[in-house]
Amino acid sequence: MLVPPVWSNQAAFMSKSQSDVLVFFGATGDLAFKKIFPALQAMARRGHLDVPVIGVGRSDWTADQLRARARESLEQQGGVDPAAWEKLCGVLRYVRVDYSDPPTFEALCKELGGAERPAHYLAIPPHMFETVVEQLEKSGCAKGARVLVEKPFGRDLASARELNRILLKTFDESAIFRIDHYLGKRPVSNLHFFRLANGFLEPVWNHTCIESVQITLAEDFGVQGRGGFYEETGAIRDVIQNHLFQVLTNLAMEPTVSTDSESIRDEKVAVLKAIPPLETKDLVRGQFVGYRNEKDVAPDSDVETYAAMRLDIDSERWRGVPFYLRAGKCLPTTYTEVVVRLRRPATRYRDLPLKPNGLRLRISPEILFALSLNVLGPDEQKPGQSVEMVACRQHGADEMAAYERVLGDAMKGDATLFARQDYAEEAWRIVDPVLQADTPVHAYERNTWGPSEVDKILSPAGGWHNPIIADESDVERQLPDD
Ligand code: BG6
Repeated sequence: MLVPPVWSNQAAFMSKSQSDVLVFFGATGDLAFKKIFPALQAMARRGHLDVPVIGVGRSDWTADQLRARARESLEQQGGVDPAAWEKLCGVLRYVRVDYSDPPTFEALCKELGGAERPAHYLAIPPHMFETVVEQLEKSGCAKGARVLVEKPFGRDLASARELNRILLKTFDESAIFRIDHYLGKRPVSNLHFFRLANGFLEPVWNHTCIESVQITLAEDFGVQGRGGFYEETGAIRDVIQNHLFQVLTNLAMEPTVSTDSESIRDEKVAVLKAIPPLETKDLVRGQFVGYRNEKDVAPDSDVETYAAMRLDIDSERWRGVPFYLRAGKCLPTTYTEVVVRLRRPATRYRDLPLKPNGLRLRISPEILFALSLNVLGPDEQKPGQSVEMVACRQHGADEMAAYERVLGDAMKGDATLFARQDYAEEAWRIVDPVLQADTPVHAYERNTWGPSEVDKILSPAGGWHNPIIADESDVERQLPDD
């Protein structure tokens, strides 16, 4: 049986024309190497890549050099599929463009041939967007085109507005696709789907039954040679303002009246609009010991590699329910997970020392749904025990990876999984005050759960939920003690 996409807008798909060429700027760069070539190969394998793909870079490369780079990328990122590789090679081209030299854009235009709806993917640093967009317009390459831009979309509210202004000078909002690859992860879309597809959840999905929510993105590695990038971003800009906010909005949004992209995006923006600006008292920033010795990092850097915060959603559904978000590098393990803690039942058992019910929804590395319940156990001396029902599966080798999904959707013109202008600006509005404030950065040792200040300053009821890291498996079976 065919299962419809979680966010499905088939009618809109049919009415919008498919991009007839994909142009990706930054073809010789890191993102292309790590994510874009594997996504292109996967699209080719699925038969979703039957248009020319033009890599654009400033290096004086040939198409063969780009193919060699693509091959190396695939060898290192999951392997080469001979049939798909052959298809990819057949469509892959290269154009050298000096971003500030208008005549070189003419070469790109020539390569576009008669394409009517090119998709220009700007996998380049944001400070180059203005020049590139201007040149695309002047050279005629922007005609009928879509533009895909990478996160971080700006570095604060003012720069995001400026970026929007630049893009909107040339492209209509419906032709702008702001990429946040977390939106391309199926388990993130599932956060909303599972609520509405399972009747028992929606009645409890509000402040009456839910006490608090924690969202964690933990990574057991450091900045992996991206010190220069990190110095410009830090954890809040790198993963919280975008990835974790998307997790939050998927969890907290109201059911939509219909499944068209704008109805869905309206509800996500509504969640952000209800969140007051973050206050410095609700934020803890940390930096792992050794970060300042990383390449391209200032010896006195106060950039955070860890951040934890408390947000409130001032809406009928969520008033009084704190949402705790945290993300960090060099933590004990790598995973992204939501923990929902339910209120104690108002029954005769409310005063027993039982753990509250809770839900764990793990997004990666495996997909997990766990429900903790209190039952009478075999021990006659104990009033009850907490058990967790766990449903877990690994990501399948053939599952669509996030970049494959977002590239494919943008080329189809389906905007559902992309941040709209108002969303991007609302997300910055929330964190803007703390980005401008000079809050302290607390040092933490590698392989710990962040600075000790976190537990003093932000202490969710029941404590932060950290997985128990066992030898065989890190899938934890219990909720934390009160
Ligand atoms: C990227 C950040 O956007 O997301 C990285 O720049 C981070 O710092 C990564 O490691 C996390 O994404 P994923 O898909 O690996 O969880």
